[in-house]
Amino acid sequence: MKYLFANWKMYLDFDESCMLASQVREWLYDSDAVTLALFPASIAAREVGMIVAGTDIQLGAQNVAWVPKGAYTGAVSALMYKGIGCTYALVGHSERRHIFGESDTDVRKKVEACLDAGIVPVVCIGETKEEKEEGKREYRLKKQLLKIFKDLDLGGRKIIIAYEPVWSIGTGDACLPADAEDIHLWIRTEIKQYTDSEVPILYGGSVNAENVVSYLSRTAIDGVLVGSMSAKEETFRTLIEVVQREC
Ligand code: PGA
Repeated sequence: MKYLFANWKMYLDFDESCMLASQVREWLYDSDAVTLALFPASIAAREVGMIVAGTDIQLGAQNVAWVPKGAYTGAVSALMYKGIGCTYALVGHSERRHIFGESDTDVRKKVEACLDAGIVPVVCIGETKEEKEEGKREYRLKKQLLKIFKDLDLGGRKIIIAYEPVWSIGTGDACLPADAEDIHLWIRTEIKQYTDSEVPILYGGSVNAENVVSYLSRTAIDGVLVGSMSAKEETFRTLIEVVQREC
């Protein structure tokens, strides 16, 4: 079983999110082979959840606050997302880290908030272009993984890691599948230091209909997190059709 997660970022407003969710609902895909989840903007999450209710399509949040409730203007908690039917939440997406200044410590708090709320955190890690060029990729990922997993008591609860190199997000410069596979194997070994639990590892960064199969066909890659190509009806439908046909 592979994961296909659609991160709609801030691309779609309420009406557009509902429209696309209604279209996705009608598409054919093998829910035994693929876990499909939509991550709409917070304003549309509840409605999208209602549109896909009764199907196998899952709902996810793009970000969560690390406290369940209280005086946190503008924030929405993991517990609140759980209340509207979210199964998953992205945590520490590169855009949250780099545009909104989230630290590894914030990410850890959000991971714990998700686990406490009964939401599966999909924790994004990845190196910048400079770090890659300076040979510091493993160093960066090691630090991020340490902060996520050190003394984390999963207690049977699930967590997912998404390897999303910063230089590949929204750039069209996708990580070569063989390279992604190598780094996934390395990440898996790192995680083994912290937990015996099975932790799925997804790849994200410029995934499209042309390259999606080259990731999903590799055993070390448990799924993909797709951004811009999932936020338009035509490109998302083509991507799902390719997966349905070839995976
Ligand atoms: P992209 O984004 O597919 O547009 O590169 C991926 C992501 O940010 O999750």
